[in-house]
Amino acid sequence: MTTPDGGYVTVDRPIGQVAASDARRSSQRRELRVIPAYLREVYGWAYLNRTNARLLDRDAVVNTILLGNNRRLRRCLLCEIEPGQRVLHVAHVYGSLIPKLARRVGRNGVLDVIDLVPLQVALCRRKLRGFRQAQVRIADAAQPGDGMYDAVTCFFLLHEIPDERKRAVVDALLPRVVPGGRVVFVDYHKPARWHPLRGVMRGLMGRLEPFAESLWHHEIAEFASAPGAYRWEKQTLFGGLYQKIVAYRPVISGKPEFCAAGTAGFLPRPPPDAAARSTNENSDRIVSGKS
Ligand SMILES: C[S@@+](CC[C@H](N)C(=O)[O-])C[C@H]1O[C@@H](n2cnc3c(N)ncnc32)[C@H](O)[C@@H]1O
Repeated sequence: MTTPDGGYVTVDRPIGQVAASDARRSSQRRELRVIPAYLREVYGWAYLNRTNARLLDRDAVVNTILLGNNRRLRRCLLCEIEPGQRVLHVAHVYGSLIPKLARRVGRNGVLDVIDLVPLQVALCRRKLRGFRQAQVRIADAAQPGDGMYDAVTCFFLLHEIPDERKRAVVDALLPRVVPGGRVVFVDYHKPARWHPLRGVMRGLMGRLEPFAESLWHHEIAEFASAPGAYRWEKQTLFGGLYQKIVAYRPVISGKPEFCAAGTAGFLPRPPPDAAARSTNENSDRIVSGKS
């Protein structure tokens, strides 16, 4: 019998079974072709390998990667969502964030999760079994479909994708929220100078996460082609190593908006009364503005 790539296999299984496994292999090859190079080459071991994915898909692993901040960062995202909302969550996240999101939107809400990788979609679907308000589909974050949502959430995806795609993703997600809605990004950020892990993180990113350090040098709003159409709020956590960015879509469009500190120069500056909000136990710094 000939394999799809022209080799021969000797079999002690019924022909039907061999044909099915050949078909599976060729469909896996087809899938690999549509998976972008950055994902295959840099993160393939984590997201495309079934065994590794099963090992990694635990809160303990995520918590280790996030240096003990998993719960805090998760809470930071979940507090942006209200029961009954329609939410688009972009990209599967290992551990229990996804079912927690489903619980948060509740039975009167809708949770739509997308991921590019069929294996990740399958893992996510399994976690969401029993949540009638949730659905999972294969889609690129840069082409999420034409649904409209109260909120779009994105947890540690941007640092894993090249800058060109960051732009495409941010531009694709912002218009998916209704007026009054919000897009929430939780991701890496440049840590404070005094941060004891700054050097270690830079080294790790240089070796393992080649697209992450750009979040140290660019505001997420800078990846949007029309940032001024949204009101941006920024909160940093854990000595600045992490950030939450919320982009609010104004109810009345066309009003001038401004962005968080560090982005002045490409957006109008905040009016004088829009002082930085005081810090709270969950954050290092919150900078926000009124429209
Ligand atoms: C959310 S990110 C990183 C999350 C975090 N490291 C964790 O603990 O899982 C990982 C997911 O992003 C997905 N992904 C990568 N690029 C994508 C894209 N362009 N569109 C949709 N999903 C994408 C991967 O398949 C993977 O499931």
